Amino acid sequence: MTSPTPPGPGSVALITGGTGGFGRALATKLRERGATAVLADLDSERNRSVAEELGCPFVALDVTDRAANEAVVAQVEAEHGRLDAAYLNAGISAAKSDDALDLDEFLRVVDIDLNGVVYGAVAARPAIRRAGGGAIVVTASLAGLTPMPTDPGYSVAKAGAVAFVRSMAPRLARERITITAICPGFADTAIIDRIRHEFEAAQFPVIPAAEVADAMVMAWESGEPGAAYVIQPGVGTVPYRFKGVPSAKTATGETAVVPQALLP
Ligand SMILES: NC(=O)c1ccc[n+]([C@@H]2O[C@H](COP(=O)([O-])OP(=O)(O)OC[C@H]3O[C@@H](n4cnc5c(N)ncnc54)[C@H](O)[C@@H]3O)[C@@H](O)[C@H]2O)c1
Repeated sequence: MTSPTPPGPGSVALITGGTGGFGRALATKLRERGATAVLADLDSERNRSVAEELGCPFVALDVTDRAANEAVVAQVEAEHGRLDAAYLNAGISAAKSDDALDLDEFLRVVDIDLNGVVYGAVAARPAIRRAGGGAIVVTASLAGLTPMPTDPGYSVAKAGAVAFVRSMAPRLARERITITAICPGFADTAIIDRIRHEFEAAQFPVIPAAEVADAMVMAWESGEPGAAYVIQPGVGTVPYRFKGVPSAKTATGETAVVPQALLP
């Protein structure tokens, strides 16, 4: 069995939402390491030219399309020979934050930010296994660890993405695939354009996209299976410590032993 290939010459990464703020910053860092970064994003002239300017191959992908996720992975393997890392990074937030919950918008956010991650991971898994192992890095959010009252759909999707990462980690680790979640606070990309003035008015610091990209590279290189890495301004990147839940007790008050079949 070969070992996973780290970010460097000869390695190949796929980045969904690849022409957005984090995607561009990550692609730049991976290119500096000599890795090939394939940028997958919605098909538009703007997105194609962003990839061209970065010197990265572009593939059109709507992450909510299950079959398209499979097709893109097949295309990457066919054109670049392998896939070592899948960055499942595409995401949107709700376009408005009024008190009424727009159910269509809620479902749209969950479809992109959660289902898109699941489709991407399922599509990438066999290809990364064929490469001898590697990494799946999911861009979740701090909103997946602490609720964001202005955007319940985003909170649900990102918390779901963190739960997906944690629950998938053991089976993927057996295939030498490390799955991790990146959980940044507010960072300087287009996704915060609608509320950027609020941060400026409150003098609230936002994270440079390059700092998030550094964490994304670290997650491929040395991430721990199932870890969720928090990034906060002035704090840096730290693994989130989950509290755990109380253990079940037997009728006589001892800690109940979990059935073997339910263990990782
Ligand atoms: N910037 C922040 O404050 C912040 C904080 C935490 C998490 N995030 C997450 O980071 C990820 C990247 O966002 P960003 O900050 O770079 O914002 P961005 O808006 O610059 O990039 C998002 C990218 O996702 C793409 N995308 C949207 N819908 C898609 C779809 N259906 N299929 C394929 N691509 C699609 C967009 O075209 C865009 O290129 C998102 O998942 C976002 O939720 C951002």
